[in-house]
Amino acid sequence: MTAGEATVETTTTEQRRAALEAIAAEVRVCSRGKLAQGRTNAVPGEGHPDTEVMFVGEGPGQTEDAQGRPFVGRAGELLVRLLASIGWRRQEVFITNIVKCRPPGNRDPEPDEIAACAPYLQRQLEVLDPAVVVTLGRFSMAHFRPGERITQIHGTHASAPPATGAREALAYALFHPAAALRSPEVERQSYDDIAGLPRVLTEARTRRGGLAAVVTATTDQAISPAVPTELLAGQIEPPELGDDAPTLF
Ligand code: URA
Repeated sequence: MTAGEATVETTTTEQRRAALEAIAAEVRVCSRGKLAQGRTNAVPGEGHPDTEVMFVGEGPGQTEDAQGRPFVGRAGELLVRLLASIGWRRQEVFITNIVKCRPPGNRDPEPDEIAACAPYLQRQLEVLDPAVVVTLGRFSMAHFRPGERITQIHGTHASAPPATGAREALAYALFHPAAALRSPEVERQSYDDIAGLPRVLTEARTRRGGLAAVVTATTDQAISPAVPTELLAGQIEPPELGDDAPTLF
């Protein structure tokens, strides 16, 4: 390499999968933060090693603590419906949390607990190098969009601070699905907000010098989805998506 030449880091799917699994293995036996004392299982996060989109929630709840997987309770079911409304599937993104162990009684995570888990999130971001980080709720928003208010910035994006580990990502703010479960208005707003996500991904790809023009045709189909009211109300399951559905891949 000559002086001044850029270093282009390339990793394969298998290398990313292995790196993510190595982080997950550390998280499962971690005793750094005081939340580790009360957990049944740590919840490292999971998802596709090739994804361009990482969802970051707050912390595991009861069901997640029992299963060791993120967003598998009622909030997770809503997250899956939100993803389906733009033609995406949970296994195509990566889903994790600010804290990797359940706060007792689902209380808010405390600053020392967030700090204890931050290196894991940073490493997950460095491995995946996502184009978009979707923040779910206040605590995740505070990490990637510090100083903002969720009621003012939901459905908007800004550059994620590179110090988080997200080298060149847009941070897109959504309400937490648990808040949407408590309020039909927040739930409706959440469907509106997530409808903007494919366009933000296109913009992020453009900023990173990607193939925005090629993906526009795919993402345009998903920009203004007509969401059936029964799906919004949780009365029907999201449709099984065929191989030709507009997806991330
Ligand atoms: N709420 C979160 O913030 N994360 C989960 O994994 C589940 C519920």
